[in-house]
Amino acid sequence: MTDIEINLNRAYESVIDKINNKPEIAIILGSGFGDFGETIDNKTYINYNDIDDFPISTVSGHAGRFILGNIGDKNVICMQGRVHYYEGYTMDKVVLPIRLMKLLGADTLILTNAAGGINKKFKPGSLMAITDHITSFVPSPLIGENIDNLGTRFPDMSEVYNKELLSVLDKTAEKLGISLEHGVYIQTTGPNYETPAEINMYRLLGADAVGMSTACEAIAAKHMGMSIAGISCITNMAAGISDAPLSHSEVKETADRTAATFQHLLREFILSI
Ligand code: HPA
Repeated sequence: MTDIEINLNRAYESVIDKINNKPEIAIILGSGFGDFGETIDNKTYINYNDIDDFPISTVSGHAGRFILGNIGDKNVICMQGRVHYYEGYTMDKVVLPIRLMKLLGADTLILTNAAGGINKKFKPGSLMAITDHITSFVPSPLIGENIDNLGTRFPDMSEVYNKELLSVLDKTAEKLGISLEHGVYIQTTGPNYETPAEINMYRLLGADAVGMSTACEAIAAKHMGMSIAGISCITNMAAGISDAPLSHSEVKETADRTAATFQHLLREFILSI
């Protein structure tokens, strides 16, 4: 057994007894969106630091726990806080929670994040459904010995973000009168924000939004055959587009301002899946 499998089994054994209902839908709440977790009914909390070998986030704005419960008739498992590659964790540690949620039963994954807008049509506060991603600047979480129990050595990535889920998300946004952009998300290592030259390059490569998470999680989830949806909140325009310097407090402020709309969309989307 590989170290990753041993790690995953230990994490599984430390949570399985606390879970009453098998989760169907896994949700990761990005910076500033953690409050959505409080809207879940029949909550059970599991703190990450009570799980053996579990990676813990050091970033402000990221709590560190799972919330299990219900949204309508759906059993969900929700992560309030995620870890990032820039915190010094290896990619296999970064995606351990995704693998754990799949082992616990979730076949659908909704990824959310705060991102910088590269597409000049976007504005701070825009919401973007992720249609595809670019991860060529970060290592794959699948590097190393393949865990055959999880998925195949060379997984297909031609449709990471599930088209049916995207269509449900679009219809939900339309029904609620929430405008929802579409775009390609590019993952960088962070933690520094990008330079204007890098943002120009990413735009030429076809990216619409940039962030420091999500795409590696989507790869690990796709490896295991999960159906994936992704939503970015554009919290700021990426470097060089406006004159203002970028800051984490701006990211959090915009996320807070957008939180009510975002939560409404997310809830109705989950109910419609
Ligand atoms: N760049 C990278 N990550 C981000 C940004 C950004 O501009 N905004 C929020 N997360």
